[in-house]
Amino acid sequence: MSASDDFLLELTTTLGDKAVVIDPADIDAWTTDWRGRWTGKAIALLQPATTAEVQAIVRAAEAHGVPLVPQGGNTSMVGGATPDDSGSAAILSLRRMKAVRRIDPATRQVVAEAGLVLEAMQALLADEGLRLPLDLGARGSATIGGLASTNAGGTEVLRHGTMGQMVVGLEAVLSGGEILDTLSPLKKDNRGPRVDRLLIGGEGQFGIITALRLQLAPVPRDRATAWVGVKTPQAALDLLRFAEARTDAIEGFELIPDDVLDAAVAVMGVQRPLEAPWHVLIEAKGDGAPGTLTATLEGLLADALERGLATDAVIARAEAQADAFWHIRHSLSEAEKKHYGMAGSHDISVPVDAMPAFLDAVKGWVEGQWPGVSVSGYGHLGDGNIHLHVRAMERAWQGWRDNEGAAIEQVVHDMVVDHGGSISAEHGIGQMKRGEFARLGDPARLQTLKALKAAMDPEGIFNPGKLIP
Ligand code: FAD
Ligand code: MLT
Ligand code: ZN
Repeated sequence: MSASDDFLLELTTTLGDKAVVIDPADIDAWTTDWRGRWTGKAIALLQPATTAEVQAIVRAAEAHGVPLVPQGGNTSMVGGATPDDSGSAAILSLRRMKAVRRIDPATRQVVAEAGLVLEAMQALLADEGLRLPLDLGARGSATIGGLASTNAGGTEVLRHGTMGQMVVGLEAVLSGGEILDTLSPLKKDNRGPRVDRLLIGGEGQFGIITALRLQLAPVPRDRATAWVGVKTPQAALDLLRFAEARTDAIEGFELIPDDVLDAAVAVMGVQRPLEAPWHVLIEAKGDGAPGTLTATLEGLLADALERGLATDAVIARAEAQADAFWHIRHSLSEAEKKHYGMAGSHDISVPVDAMPAFLDAVKGWVEGQWPGVSVSGYGHLGDGNIHLHVRAMERAWQGWRDNEGAAIEQVVHDMVVDHGGSISAEHGIGQMKRGEFARLGDPARLQTLKALKAAMDPEGIFNPGKLIP
Protein backbone atom coordinates (compact mmCIF):
# COMPACT_ATOMS: atom_id res chain seq x y z
CA MET A 1 0.00 0.00 0.00
CA SER A 2 1.20 3.51 -0.78
CA ALA A 3 1.57 6.25 1.84
CA SER A 4 -1.59 7.92 0.59
CA ASP A 5 -3.53 4.61 0.82
CA ASP A 6 -2.34 4.24 4.41
CA PHE A 7 -3.35 7.85 5.10
CA LEU A 8 -6.86 7.33 3.71
CA LEU A 9 -7.32 4.01 5.48
CA GLU A 10 -6.27 5.50 8.81
CA LEU A 11 -8.61 8.49 8.45
CA THR A 12 -11.55 6.48 7.14
CA THR A 13 -11.18 4.13 10.09
CA THR A 14 -10.97 6.91 12.68
CA LEU A 15 -13.23 9.59 11.18
CA GLY A 16 -15.65 7.67 8.95
CA ASP A 17 -16.85 8.08 5.36
CA LYS A 18 -18.55 11.43 5.89
CA ALA A 19 -15.25 13.07 6.72
CA VAL A 20 -13.24 11.27 4.04
CA VAL A 21 -14.68 11.55 0.54
CA ILE A 22 -12.78 9.59 -2.11
CA ASP A 23 -15.31 9.40 -4.96
CA PRO A 24 -13.80 11.55 -7.78
CA ALA A 25 -17.30 12.66 -8.76
CA ASP A 26 -17.64 14.38 -5.38
CA ILE A 27 -14.09 15.73 -5.32
CA ASP A 28 -14.00 17.21 -8.83
CA ALA A 29 -16.27 20.16 -8.05
CA TRP A 30 -13.56 21.46 -5.70
CA THR A 31 -10.43 21.00 -7.79
CA THR A 32 -10.87 24.04 -10.05
CA ASP A 33 -10.50 27.62 -8.84
CA TRP A 34 -13.21 30.29 -9.19
CA ARG A 35 -11.52 31.95 -12.16
CA GLY A 36 -11.32 28.59 -13.93
CA ARG A 37 -7.57 29.05 -14.44
CA TRP A 38 -6.22 26.15 -12.42
CA THR A 39 -7.47 22.59 -12.20
CA GLY A 40 -5.69 20.10 -9.97
CA LYS A 41 -6.19 16.62 -8.59
CA ALA A 42 -6.75 15.41 -5.05
CA ILE A 43 -6.67 11.98 -3.45
CA ALA A 44 -9.57 12.94 -1.19
CA LEU A 45 -11.86 15.66 0.02
CA LEU A 46 -11.52 15.73 3.80
CA GLN A 47 -14.47 17.25 5.61
CA PRO A 48 -13.87 17.31 9.37
CA ALA A 49 -16.73 18.31 11.65
CA THR A 50 -14.67 19.18 14.74
CA THR A 51 -11.33 20.65 15.74
CA ALA A 52 -10.33 17.21 17.07
CA GLU A 53 -10.92 15.77 13.60
CA VAL A 54 -8.72 18.48 12.07
CA GLN A 55 -6.03 17.51 14.59
CA ALA A 56 -6.28 13.86 13.53
CA ILE A 57 -6.00 14.86 9.86
CA VAL A 58 -2.94 17.05 10.42
CA ARG A 59 -1.20 14.32 12.43
CA ALA A 60 -1.96 11.67 9.79
CA ALA A 61 -0.88 13.99 6.97
CA GLU A 62 2.47 14.60 8.66
CA ALA A 63 2.96 10.92 9.43
CA HIS A 64 2.30 9.86 5.83
CA GLY A 65 3.68 12.93 4.04
CA VAL A 66 0.38 13.92 2.43
CA PRO A 67 0.00 17.65 1.58
CA LEU A 68 -3.20 19.35 2.73
CA VAL A 69 -4.88 22.11 0.74
CA PRO A 70 -7.14 24.03 3.14
CA GLN A 71 -10.33 25.19 1.49
CA GLY A 72 -13.22 27.36 2.59
CA GLY A 73 -15.58 28.63 -0.10
CA ASN A 74 -13.04 28.13 -2.93
CA THR A 75 -13.50 31.74 -4.08
CA SER A 76 -9.77 32.55 -4.05
CA MET A 77 -8.84 34.87 -6.90
CA VAL A 78 -5.24 33.57 -6.95
CA GLY A 79 -5.70 29.80 -7.08
CA GLY A 80 -4.90 29.63 -3.36
CA ALA A 81 -7.27 26.78 -2.51
CA THR A 82 -6.68 24.60 -5.58
CA PRO A 83 -4.41 21.53 -5.41
CA ASP A 84 -1.67 21.04 -8.00
CA ASP A 85 -2.08 18.38 -10.68
CA SER A 86 0.28 15.83 -9.13
CA GLY A 87 -2.65 14.17 -7.39
CA SER A 88 -0.72 13.80 -4.15
CA ALA A 89 -2.62 16.29 -1.97
CA ALA A 90 -5.90 16.07 -0.09
CA ILE A 91 -8.30 19.01 0.04
CA LEU A 92 -9.13 19.89 3.63
CA SER A 93 -12.54 21.54 3.47
CA LEU A 94 -13.71 23.46 6.54
CA ARG A 95 -17.26 23.80 5.23
CA ARG A 96 -18.81 21.37 7.74
CA MET A 97 -17.39 23.39 10.61
CA LYS A 98 -19.86 26.25 10.58
CA ALA A 99 -21.25 26.49 14.10
CA VAL A 100 -21.65 29.79 15.87
CA ARG A 101 -20.22 29.02 19.29
CA ARG A 102 -21.16 32.28 20.97
CA ILE A 103 -22.53 35.75 20.27
CA ASP A 104 -21.77 38.35 22.91
CA PRO A 105 -23.96 41.42 22.32
CA ALA A 106 -22.32 43.35 25.19
CA THR A 107 -18.84 43.29 23.68
CA ARG A 108 -20.21 42.92 20.14
CA GLN A 109 -18.17 39.81 19.45
CA VAL A 110 -18.90 36.47 17.86
CA VAL A 111 -17.02 33.19 18.14
CA ALA A 112 -17.70 31.00 15.14
CA GLU A 113 -16.14 28.12 13.28
CA ALA A 114 -13.99 28.71 10.24
CA GLY A 115 -16.33 27.20 7.66
CA LEU A 116 -19.19 29.58 8.36
CA VAL A 117 -20.13 31.43 5.16
CA LEU A 118 -20.05 35.23 5.46
CA GLU A 119 -23.62 35.77 4.23
CA ALA A 120 -25.01 33.13 6.60
CA MET A 121 -23.17 34.72 9.51
CA GLN A 122 -24.45 38.19 8.63
CA ALA A 123 -28.04 36.87 8.61
CA LEU A 124 -27.61 35.39 12.11
CA LEU A 125 -25.95 38.53 13.43
CA ALA A 126 -28.64 40.80 11.99
CA ASP A 127 -31.11 39.22 14.43
CA GLU A 128 -28.92 40.63 17.22
CA GLY A 129 -28.59 44.05 15.53
CA LEU A 130 -24.95 43.29 14.67
CA ARG A 131 -22.85 42.83 11.53
CA LEU A 132 -19.31 42.09 10.46
CA PRO A 133 -18.36 45.31 8.64
CA LEU A 134 -16.94 43.51 5.60
CA ASP A 135 -18.64 42.87 2.28
CA LEU A 136 -17.62 41.42 -1.07
CA GLY A 137 -19.18 39.82 -4.13
CA ALA A 138 -18.27 36.33 -2.89
CA ARG A 139 -20.26 36.73 0.36
CA GLY A 140 -22.54 33.78 -0.51
CA SER A 141 -19.60 31.31 -0.60
CA ALA A 142 -16.58 32.81 1.14
CA THR A 143 -16.05 31.51 4.68
CA ILE A 144 -14.78 33.44 7.67
CA GLY A 145 -11.76 31.09 7.82
CA GLY A 146 -10.94 31.85 4.17
CA LEU A 147 -11.50 35.56 4.72
CA ALA A 148 -9.07 35.53 7.64
CA SER A 149 -6.54 33.34 5.80
CA THR A 150 -6.47 35.86 2.95
CA ASN A 151 -6.94 38.93 5.16
CA ALA A 152 -9.68 39.84 2.69
CA GLY A 153 -10.66 43.41 1.91
CA GLY A 154 -13.87 44.25 0.07
CA THR A 155 -15.91 47.40 -0.06
CA GLU A 156 -15.90 48.63 3.56
CA VAL A 157 -12.16 48.72 4.24
CA LEU A 158 -12.03 52.50 3.98
CA ARG A 159 -13.67 52.80 7.39
CA HIS A 160 -13.34 49.41 9.04
CA GLY A 161 -10.10 47.93 7.75
CA THR A 162 -9.48 44.44 6.38
CA MET A 163 -10.63 41.13 7.87
CA GLY A 164 -7.51 40.86 10.00
CA GLN A 165 -8.49 43.99 11.90
CA MET A 166 -11.73 42.29 12.99
CA VAL A 167 -10.00 39.16 14.27
CA VAL A 168 -9.79 39.39 18.07
CA GLY A 169 -8.42 35.87 18.39
CA LEU A 170 -8.50 32.46 16.78
CA GLU A 171 -8.20 28.74 17.20
CA ALA A 172 -5.90 26.88 14.83
CA VAL A 173 -4.39 23.45 14.42
CA LEU A 174 -0.64 23.70 13.90
CA SER A 175 2.04 21.15 13.08
CA GLY A 176 1.93 18.09 15.34
CA GLY A 177 -1.78 18.68 15.84
CA GLU A 178 -1.04 21.33 18.47
CA ILE A 179 -3.89 23.76 19.08
CA LEU A 180 -3.15 27.46 19.17
CA ASP A 181 -6.02 29.04 21.12
CA THR A 182 -6.34 32.81 21.42
CA LEU A 183 -10.15 32.84 21.49
CA SER A 184 -10.31 34.25 25.00
CA PRO A 185 -11.63 37.85 24.95
CA LEU A 186 -8.47 39.28 26.53
CA LYS A 187 -8.03 43.00 26.03
CA LYS A 188 -4.33 42.81 26.86
CA ASP A 189 -1.83 40.00 26.40
CA ASN A 190 1.87 40.71 26.09
CA ARG A 191 3.31 37.21 26.18
CA GLY A 192 5.59 38.14 23.31
CA PRO A 193 4.49 38.86 19.75
CA ARG A 194 1.08 37.65 18.56
CA VAL A 195 1.79 34.29 17.01
CA ASP A 196 -1.83 33.98 15.86
CA ARG A 197 -1.36 36.94 13.47
CA LEU A 198 0.75 34.68 11.25
CA LEU A 199 -2.39 32.87 10.24
CA ILE A 200 -4.06 36.13 9.13
CA GLY A 201 -3.25 36.36 5.44
CA GLY A 202 -1.18 33.19 5.93
CA GLU A 203 -2.99 31.39 3.04
CA GLY A 204 -2.96 28.11 4.92
CA GLN A 205 0.85 28.00 5.14
CA PHE A 206 1.24 27.80 8.90
CA GLY A 207 -1.76 25.82 10.10
CA ILE A 208 -5.51 25.39 9.82
CA ILE A 209 -7.83 27.99 11.32
CA THR A 210 -10.75 26.21 12.96
CA ALA A 211 -12.52 29.09 14.74
CA LEU A 212 -12.39 32.86 15.10
CA ARG A 213 -13.44 35.51 17.59
CA LEU A 214 -14.52 38.53 15.56
CA GLN A 215 -15.20 42.12 16.53
CA LEU A 216 -18.54 43.27 15.15
CA ALA A 217 -20.27 46.58 14.59
CA PRO A 218 -23.87 47.55 15.23
CA VAL A 219 -26.23 47.50 12.27
CA PRO A 220 -26.30 51.21 11.42
CA ARG A 221 -29.52 53.15 11.93
CA ASP A 222 -28.84 55.35 8.96
CA ARG A 223 -27.45 54.68 5.51
CA ALA A 224 -27.04 56.71 2.32
CA THR A 225 -25.84 55.52 -1.06
CA ALA A 226 -25.00 57.63 -4.10
CA TRP A 227 -23.95 56.89 -7.66
CA VAL A 228 -21.86 59.77 -8.96
CA GLY A 229 -20.43 60.61 -12.39
CA VAL A 230 -16.91 62.07 -12.58
CA LYS A 231 -14.59 63.03 -15.43
CA THR A 232 -11.38 61.34 -14.30
CA PRO A 233 -9.89 59.21 -11.50
CA GLN A 234 -8.24 62.40 -10.19
CA ALA A 235 -11.68 64.04 -9.96
CA ALA A 236 -12.90 60.95 -8.10
CA LEU A 237 -10.04 61.24 -5.63
CA ASP A 238 -10.69 64.95 -5.16
CA LEU A 239 -14.33 64.08 -4.49
CA LEU A 240 -13.25 61.53 -1.87
CA ARG A 241 -11.13 64.09 -0.04
CA PHE A 242 -13.93 66.66 -0.32
CA ALA A 243 -16.44 64.19 1.14
CA GLU A 244 -14.12 63.09 3.93
CA ALA A 245 -13.65 66.70 4.99
CA ARG A 246 -17.43 67.02 5.37
CA THR A 247 -18.29 63.73 7.10
CA ASP A 248 -16.59 60.78 8.73
CA ALA A 249 -19.42 58.45 7.69
CA ILE A 250 -17.97 57.41 4.30
CA GLU A 251 -17.62 53.64 4.40
CA GLY A 252 -17.20 52.74 0.75
CA PHE A 253 -15.81 54.66 -2.20
CA GLU A 254 -15.63 52.56 -5.35
CA LEU A 255 -14.37 53.68 -8.76
CA ILE A 256 -15.83 52.19 -11.94
CA PRO A 257 -14.83 53.15 -15.49
CA ASP A 258 -17.65 53.34 -18.01
CA ASP A 259 -16.30 50.46 -20.10
CA VAL A 260 -16.54 48.12 -17.10
CA LEU A 261 -20.07 49.34 -16.44
CA ASP A 262 -20.78 48.57 -20.13
CA ALA A 263 -20.01 44.93 -19.38
CA ALA A 264 -22.50 44.79 -16.50
CA VAL A 265 -25.18 46.48 -18.61
CA ALA A 266 -24.53 44.09 -21.51
CA VAL A 267 -24.37 40.77 -19.71
CA MET A 268 -25.96 41.19 -16.29
CA GLY A 269 -29.04 43.08 -17.46
CA VAL A 270 -28.48 45.95 -15.01
CA GLN A 271 -29.46 49.56 -15.69
CA ARG A 272 -26.83 52.27 -16.12
CA PRO A 273 -27.54 54.76 -13.29
CA LEU A 274 -26.14 57.74 -15.24
CA GLU A 275 -23.94 58.70 -18.18
CA ALA A 276 -20.30 59.53 -17.36
CA PRO A 277 -16.78 58.46 -18.33
CA TRP A 278 -16.10 57.32 -14.76
CA HIS A 279 -18.46 56.36 -11.97
CA VAL A 280 -18.14 56.44 -8.20
CA LEU A 281 -20.30 54.49 -5.77
CA ILE A 282 -20.39 56.09 -2.34
CA GLU A 283 -21.76 54.47 0.80
CA ALA A 284 -22.21 56.35 4.06
CA LYS A 285 -23.36 54.74 7.30
CA GLY A 286 -24.02 56.17 10.73
CA ASP A 287 -26.03 56.01 13.89
CA GLY A 288 -27.98 59.25 13.48
CA ALA A 289 -31.67 59.46 12.67
CA PRO A 290 -32.61 57.79 9.36
CA GLY A 291 -32.35 60.33 6.54
CA THR A 292 -29.55 62.34 8.14
CA LEU A 293 -26.86 60.93 5.88
CA THR A 294 -28.99 61.29 2.77
CA ALA A 295 -29.22 65.00 3.57
CA THR A 296 -25.45 65.10 4.16
CA LEU A 297 -24.74 63.43 0.80
CA GLU A 298 -27.24 65.71 -0.94
CA GLY A 299 -25.50 68.78 0.43
CA LEU A 300 -21.98 67.68 -0.31
CA LEU A 301 -22.80 66.37 -3.79
CA ALA A 302 -24.61 69.60 -4.67
CA ASP A 303 -21.45 71.49 -3.74
CA ALA A 304 -19.27 68.97 -5.56
CA LEU A 305 -21.35 69.43 -8.74
CA GLU A 306 -21.03 73.19 -8.43
CA ARG A 307 -17.25 72.95 -8.06
CA GLY A 308 -16.96 70.61 -11.03
CA LEU A 309 -15.79 67.66 -8.92
CA ALA A 310 -18.75 65.63 -10.17
CA THR A 311 -20.75 65.75 -13.39
CA ASP A 312 -23.95 64.06 -12.21
CA ALA A 313 -25.25 62.19 -9.17
CA VAL A 314 -28.12 59.92 -8.15
CA ILE A 315 -28.83 59.43 -4.46
CA ALA A 316 -30.67 56.21 -3.66
CA ARG A 317 -34.19 57.03 -2.49
CA ALA A 318 -34.90 53.60 -1.02
CA GLU A 319 -32.99 50.59 0.29
CA ALA A 320 -33.91 48.71 -2.89
CA GLN A 321 -32.24 51.35 -5.05
CA ALA A 322 -29.13 51.33 -2.85
CA ASP A 323 -29.02 47.54 -3.07
CA ALA A 324 -29.41 47.74 -6.85
CA PHE A 325 -26.38 50.04 -7.06
CA TRP A 326 -24.35 47.59 -4.98
CA HIS A 327 -25.59 44.68 -7.06
CA ILE A 328 -24.05 46.40 -10.08
CA ARG A 329 -20.78 46.89 -8.22
CA HIS A 330 -20.55 43.31 -7.00
CA SER A 331 -21.37 41.87 -10.43
CA LEU A 332 -18.46 43.61 -12.20
CA SER A 333 -15.97 40.79 -11.84
CA GLU A 334 -18.33 38.22 -13.36
CA ALA A 335 -19.56 40.69 -15.99
CA GLU A 336 -16.05 41.63 -17.17
CA LYS A 337 -15.09 37.99 -17.49
CA LYS A 338 -18.18 37.19 -19.56
CA HIS A 339 -18.14 40.32 -21.70
CA TYR A 340 -14.48 40.96 -22.47
CA GLY A 341 -13.09 37.44 -22.26
CA MET A 342 -9.40 36.75 -21.86
CA ALA A 343 -7.59 39.23 -19.63
CA GLY A 344 -4.71 39.57 -17.25
CA SER A 345 -5.98 40.46 -13.81
CA HIS A 346 -3.89 42.56 -11.45
CA ASP A 347 -5.07 43.24 -7.92
CA ILE A 348 -2.68 46.04 -7.03
CA SER A 349 -2.36 48.90 -4.58
CA VAL A 350 -0.40 52.13 -4.58
CA PRO A 351 -0.58 55.01 -2.09
CA VAL A 352 -4.12 56.38 -2.49
CA ASP A 353 -3.06 59.77 -3.83
CA ALA A 354 -0.76 58.16 -6.40
CA MET A 355 -3.52 56.10 -8.03
CA PRO A 356 -4.68 58.55 -10.77
CA ALA A 357 -1.11 59.05 -12.03
CA PHE A 358 -0.46 55.31 -11.84
CA LEU A 359 -3.59 54.51 -13.87
CA ASP A 360 -2.62 57.03 -16.57
CA ALA A 361 0.94 55.77 -16.72
CA VAL A 362 0.12 52.07 -16.91
CA LYS A 363 -2.62 52.50 -19.50
CA GLY A 364 -0.43 54.71 -21.67
CA TRP A 365 2.57 52.42 -21.51
CA VAL A 366 0.84 49.05 -21.93
CA GLU A 367 -1.56 50.11 -24.70
CA GLY A 368 1.35 51.84 -26.46
CA GLN A 369 3.63 48.79 -26.32
CA TRP A 370 0.96 46.20 -27.17
CA PRO A 371 -1.49 47.87 -29.60
CA GLY A 372 -4.87 46.18 -29.43
CA VAL A 373 -4.91 45.31 -25.73
CA SER A 374 -7.16 47.37 -23.53
CA VAL A 375 -6.33 48.42 -19.98
CA SER A 376 -9.07 49.23 -17.52
CA GLY A 377 -9.42 49.15 -13.78
CA TYR A 378 -12.10 49.37 -11.14
CA GLY A 379 -12.42 48.93 -7.43
CA HIS A 380 -11.53 50.28 -4.08
CA LEU A 381 -10.15 53.74 -4.88
CA GLY A 382 -10.58 54.82 -1.28
CA ASP A 383 -8.06 52.12 -0.31
CA GLY A 384 -5.65 52.81 -3.18
CA ASN A 385 -6.59 49.36 -4.54
CA ILE A 386 -7.68 48.87 -8.13
CA HIS A 387 -8.37 45.62 -9.98
CA LEU A 388 -6.47 46.43 -13.13
CA HIS A 389 -7.48 44.27 -16.03
CA VAL A 390 -5.49 44.02 -19.25
CA ARG A 391 -7.91 42.65 -21.83
CA ALA A 392 -6.31 40.71 -24.65
CA MET A 393 -9.09 41.75 -27.11
CA GLU A 394 -7.94 41.09 -30.68
CA ARG A 395 -4.58 39.80 -29.47
CA ALA A 396 -6.23 36.91 -27.60
CA TRP A 397 -4.90 33.52 -28.59
CA GLN A 398 -4.58 30.19 -26.84
CA GLY A 399 -1.81 30.62 -24.29
CA TRP A 400 -1.76 34.44 -24.54
CA ARG A 401 -1.93 34.80 -20.78
CA ASP A 402 1.23 32.77 -20.18
CA ASN A 403 3.21 34.56 -22.88
CA GLU A 404 2.36 38.13 -23.78
CA GLY A 405 0.05 38.39 -20.77
CA ALA A 406 2.91 37.38 -18.46
CA ALA A 407 5.24 39.94 -20.04
CA ILE A 408 2.59 42.64 -19.56
CA GLU A 409 2.09 41.51 -15.99
CA GLN A 410 5.78 42.07 -15.29
CA VAL A 411 5.59 45.59 -16.71
CA VAL A 412 2.47 46.35 -14.65
CA HIS A 413 4.11 45.03 -11.49
CA ASP A 414 7.33 46.94 -12.14
CA MET A 415 5.27 50.11 -12.45
CA VAL A 416 3.42 49.24 -9.23
CA VAL A 417 6.75 48.91 -7.43
CA ASP A 418 7.96 52.20 -8.95
CA HIS A 419 4.87 53.87 -7.49
CA GLY A 420 5.58 52.43 -4.03
CA GLY A 421 2.81 49.86 -4.29
CA SER A 422 2.01 46.19 -3.70
CA ILE A 423 1.50 43.48 -6.35
CA SER A 424 -1.24 42.00 -4.16
CA ALA A 425 -3.56 44.41 -2.44
CA GLU A 426 -6.23 42.04 -1.11
CA HIS A 427 -6.40 38.72 -2.97
CA GLY A 428 -3.09 37.32 -1.73
CA ILE A 429 -0.32 35.53 -3.62
CA GLY A 430 -1.67 31.97 -3.98
CA GLN A 431 -0.18 30.17 -6.97
CA MET A 432 -0.93 33.04 -9.33
CA LYS A 433 1.63 35.54 -8.05
CA ARG A 434 4.23 33.27 -6.50
CA GLY A 435 6.72 33.85 -9.31
CA GLU A 436 6.26 37.59 -9.26
CA PHE A 437 6.52 37.61 -5.47
CA ALA A 438 9.86 35.81 -5.80
CA ARG A 439 11.00 38.34 -8.42
CA LEU A 440 9.87 41.49 -6.65
CA GLY A 441 9.48 40.65 -2.96
CA ASP A 442 11.99 42.37 -0.73
CA PRO A 443 14.63 39.92 0.57
CA ALA A 444 13.86 40.54 4.26
CA ARG A 445 10.19 39.67 3.79
CA LEU A 446 10.90 36.56 1.68
CA GLN A 447 13.65 35.33 3.99
CA THR A 448 11.46 35.74 7.09
CA LEU A 449 8.52 33.96 5.47
CA LYS A 450 10.73 31.05 4.41
CA ALA A 451 12.22 30.72 7.90
CA LEU A 452 8.79 30.80 9.52
CA LYS A 453 7.51 28.23 7.06
CA ALA A 454 10.39 25.87 7.78
CA ALA A 455 9.85 26.22 11.52
CA MET A 456 6.06 25.93 11.56
CA ASP A 457 5.58 23.35 8.83
CA PRO A 458 8.59 21.04 9.13
CA GLU A 459 6.95 18.27 7.09
CA GLY A 460 5.86 20.71 4.35
CA ILE A 461 2.21 19.59 4.38
CA PHE A 462 0.42 22.94 4.66
CA ASN A 463 -0.69 24.14 1.21
CA PRO A 464 2.63 23.68 -0.61
CA GLY A 465 3.13 25.59 -3.86
CA LYS A 466 1.31 28.71 -2.67
CA LEU A 467 2.42 32.08 -1.36
CA ILE A 468 6.01 31.30 -0.34
CA PRO A 469 8.44 31.10 -3.29
P1 FAD B 1 -10.71 29.86 -0.21
O1 FAD B 1 -10.78 30.42 -1.56
O2 FAD B 1 -11.32 28.50 -0.03
O3 FAD B 1 -9.26 29.87 0.36
C1 FAD B 1 -8.49 31.04 0.29
C2 FAD B 1 -7.09 30.78 0.91
O4 FAD B 1 -7.19 30.56 2.31
C3 FAD B 1 -6.42 29.52 0.37
O5 FAD B 1 -5.03 29.71 0.38
C4 FAD B 1 -6.81 28.45 1.36
O6 FAD B 1 -5.88 27.38 1.38
C5 FAD B 1 -6.80 29.23 2.67
N1 FAD B 1 -7.77 28.79 3.67
C6 FAD B 1 -9.12 28.74 3.55
N2 FAD B 1 -9.68 28.39 4.70
C7 FAD B 1 -8.66 28.20 5.59
C8 FAD B 1 -8.61 27.83 6.95
N3 FAD B 1 -9.71 27.59 7.65
N4 FAD B 1 -7.39 27.72 7.55
C9 FAD B 1 -6.27 27.98 6.85
N5 FAD B 1 -6.26 28.33 5.55
C10 FAD B 1 -7.45 28.45 4.93
N6 FAD B 1 -11.37 39.28 -2.00
C11 FAD B 1 -11.16 40.47 -1.40
O7 FAD B 1 -10.25 40.59 -0.58
N7 FAD B 1 -11.96 41.56 -1.69
C12 FAD B 1 -12.98 41.49 -2.55
O8 FAD B 1 -13.65 42.48 -2.81
C13 FAD B 1 -13.24 40.24 -3.18
N8 FAD B 1 -14.27 40.12 -4.03
C14 FAD B 1 -14.49 38.91 -4.61
C15 FAD B 1 -15.57 38.80 -5.48
C16 FAD B 1 -15.84 37.60 -6.10
C17 FAD B 1 -17.00 37.48 -7.04
C18 FAD B 1 -15.00 36.47 -5.85
C19 FAD B 1 -15.26 35.14 -6.49
C20 FAD B 1 -13.91 36.58 -4.99
C21 FAD B 1 -13.65 37.81 -4.37
N9 FAD B 1 -12.58 37.95 -3.49
C22 FAD B 1 -12.37 39.15 -2.88
C23 FAD B 1 -11.67 36.83 -3.23
C24 FAD B 1 -12.15 35.82 -2.17
O9 FAD B 1 -13.53 35.88 -1.98
C25 FAD B 1 -11.45 36.05 -0.84
O10 FAD B 1 -10.07 35.80 -0.98
C26 FAD B 1 -11.99 35.20 0.31
O11 FAD B 1 -11.37 35.60 1.49
C27 FAD B 1 -11.77 33.70 0.15
O12 FAD B 1 -12.58 33.00 1.07
P2 FAD B 1 -12.89 31.45 0.85
O13 FAD B 1 -13.59 30.94 2.05
O14 FAD B 1 -13.54 31.22 -0.45
O15 FAD B 1 -11.42 30.85 0.85
C1 MLT C 1 -13.87 42.99 -6.42
O1 MLT C 1 -13.53 43.96 -5.75
O2 MLT C 1 -14.91 42.99 -7.11
C2 MLT C 1 -13.00 41.80 -6.37
O3 MLT C 1 -11.97 41.86 -5.47
C3 MLT C 1 -12.92 40.92 -7.49
C4 MLT C 1 -12.09 41.31 -8.70
O4 MLT C 1 -10.87 41.32 -8.69
O5 MLT C 1 -12.64 41.49 -9.75
ZN1 ZN D 1 -11.78 43.87 -4.66
